[in-house]
Amino acid sequence: MSDEMTASLIPALSDSELREIDEEISHAPYRSAVAIDALKIVQAHRGWVSDESLRAIARHLQMSADELEGIATFYNLIFRRPVGEQVILLCNSITCWIKGCDKLQREVSERLGISLGETSSDNRFTLLPVTCLGACDKAPVMMVGDDLHEDVTPEALLSIFPGEEEPGA
Ligand code: FES
Repeated sequence: MSDEMTASLIPALSDSELREIDEEISHAPYRSAVAIDALKIVQAHRGWVSDESLRAIARHLQMSADELEGIATFYNLIFRRPVGEQVILLCNSITCWIKGCDKLQREVSERLGISLGETSSDNRFTLLPVTCLGACDKAPVMMVGDDLHEDVTPEALLSIFPGEEEPGA
């Protein structure tokens, strides 16, 4: 069966996703107030939020898909394309930039063989830029999955990505 056919059999919102969203709605003043929570719920189940799921969430929250798309775009931790098993969010805002996030990004890219915006061929990592993670006093900063890494040095990458060999190493 092709990936497209398989995808067409997956509901845009599963029963468990709907249950979790409805639980959030039960505590909210109005349905669209849980927009970000609903996007996060679907992303927690699927790793990202497809167009179909976004439209289904919007219908369920009685808001327009465009309105929800705007929220998903503004909230840059919602992934609108498939991502790897672990997402690396590299802060490139001013303090991290001053503290060398460019060099760090090159080191990460070399170590994992991916550029910004790319997913590794084994689907383990996706490397994305992100605006300030709120830990500027510990710049440069990045997140790998749910873990925040502060004061990241090239040497620290060895322990953050153990077993990931630099090409030619
Ligand atoms: S500028 Fe990077 S954490 Fe604030």
